Amino acid sequence: MAEKSPATKLPNASRHELKIGPAAALARAALLLNCNAMPFYSRLGNIPAKRHIQFRRKDGALYSEEVFGTEGFVGPTSTLYHIHPPTQVSGWKTLYSCAAEFVETDTMRMRHLKSAAMPPRGDPITGRVVLFGNSDVEMAVCVPAEGMRYHYKNGVGDECIFIHHGNGTVWTSFGTLNFRAKDYILIPKGTTYRMAFDEPMDGDPPARFLVIESVNGSHIGPPKRYVSRTSSQFLEHAPYCERDLRLPQLPLTYDKKGSFEVRIKSRGMVHSYSYGYHPLDVVGWDGCYYPYIFNIDDFSPIVGKHHMPPPTHQTFDAHNFVICSFCPRPLDFHPQAVVVPYYHSNLDSDEVLYYVEGNYKARKGIEPASLTLHPQGIPHGPHPGTVEASLGATHTNELAVMCDTFRPLFPTRAALELDDAAYPKSWEGAAAPFAPVNGKAKAKSGGKAAKAAKPGRRAAVANGESDADTW
Ligand SMILES: [Fe+2]
Repeated sequence: MAEKSPATKLPNASRHELKIGPAAALARAALLLNCNAMPFYSRLGNIPAKRHIQFRRKDGALYSEEVFGTEGFVGPTSTLYHIHPPTQVSGWKTLYSCAAEFVETDTMRMRHLKSAAMPPRGDPITGRVVLFGNSDVEMAVCVPAEGMRYHYKNGVGDECIFIHHGNGTVWTSFGTLNFRAKDYILIPKGTTYRMAFDEPMDGDPPARFLVIESVNGSHIGPPKRYVSRTSSQFLEHAPYCERDLRLPQLPLTYDKKGSFEVRIKSRGMVHSYSYGYHPLDVVGWDGCYYPYIFNIDDFSPIVGKHHMPPPTHQTFDAHNFVICSFCPRPLDFHPQAVVVPYYHSNLDSDEVLYYVEGNYKARKGIEPASLTLHPQGIPHGPHPGTVEASLGATHTNELAVMCDTFRPLFPTRAALELDDAAYPKSWEGAAAPFAPVNGKAKAKSGGKAAKAAKPGRRAAVANGESDADTW
C-alpha cells in the first residue's frame, strides 16, 4: 500500500520535511573521500539513524532501502529510501539505438562546426545530436523542440550538461535542481531524472545545451588536485568551492500511482521500463553520489603575469578527458606580455571548444555555438594578425567550454553537415605572425604596441579587450 504523504497537498508532489536544519544542510559534513565523482557528503529528506535498520512508513510498512554504489561499492555511494521496492517494474522493451556512428575515422584535420544552425528536434533526450566522440566520451548539442513525457536514466555514464540558453527544472531521485543559462548540470550515472525547460520570454533564444557524456564508465567531477586528500574540502587554490555548488533541494518525493515510463540508456540502446508508481518515490537519502549544478560565472579564473595554460581553467575531469571553462578575466600583466595563447601542439590530446558568448571577430568565422576540433599532433593558435592586434589588451570577454580528450575524437555524420570546410585554411597568410609595425620588426611593449599598431588593428584593443584569447 502506498504511503499517504502529507505533502500530497502540493500539486504533483509529496513533500517530506528535511530532518536536518538549514545550517546543518549547508555544512554537509565532509567525508574522508578522494574521488572525482562528488567531493562531499550530503543528505536530504528523512533517513533512519543507522544504515540497514528498520525504517517504517506511517502505515507501518518498511521503506525500501537502496544502496546506490559505484566501483563495486568502494567508490562514491548514496543510500536511498523508497516508498516502493525499486524492483517493481511491470514491463520492458527495447525502443531505439543510441549508438553513435562515427565517420571519417581515418581523417585528421581541424574542424569547425556551426551548430547555431541546428533546428529544434526531439526532447531533451531524443533531441541530443552527437557531434564528436570516441570510446571515452561523447559530445552532443541539443535544441529541444518538446518536453519529456517520461523519466530517463543513463546506465552508461555520467552526464555534464552545459546550458547555453534557457531556464528550467530537473526533477531527480535525489531532489529538484532549478537551472539557468551557463549552468553545468552534473548528473551521475544511474540517476533517474526528467528535465523541462520554461517557456522562453519574448526575445529570448530557444533552449540549447551541450552534453559531455562519459562512455567509459568513469565519473565526471572536480579534479582531485582541487580537493584535500585528508578532508575532501576544496583547497585554496581551487577556482571554485563548495559554496558554488547547488545541490538537490525539496521537493523530493512523489507518491503517485499510475503508469510511468522510465527510459534507460544501456548497451547502445534505449530501453523502456514501466512502473506502476511515480519513479521519484525517494523520501530521503544520504551519501556522496548525487547530481548538482555549478554555474560557469562562479568559476574564479586564475590569471598570471604571463599567459596561463589550459589546465589553469580546468573545471571537471573523468578518465581520459577534461572539461575547462574559459571565462571573462583580466589578461596577463607583464608589460611586454603577449596576451593571446602561443601556438601550441597538445601532443596527447584532441581539443574541442564550444563557444558560448563574447567577441570572436578576430577568429575567422567563429560564432556563438560554434565548435572547433583541433586534433593532437597539429599545432594551432591565434589566427593571422590577432597576436599583434591583441598587444595592450587588458581583459577578455570570451566565454567558452573546452573538452580535451586523450584519445582521438571522431565526427559523426551530423557533424559533417555542420562542417565549415574552409576552417583548416583559416591560418593561411600567417607567414609573418609578428608582423612588423610601422616597418620595424621589433616587439613593442604592451600599450605602446597597441598604439603603434595599424588603425584597423588598433580597434581590437580600443577598450582594452582582446577578442582572440580562447585556446
Ligand atoms: Fe588549443
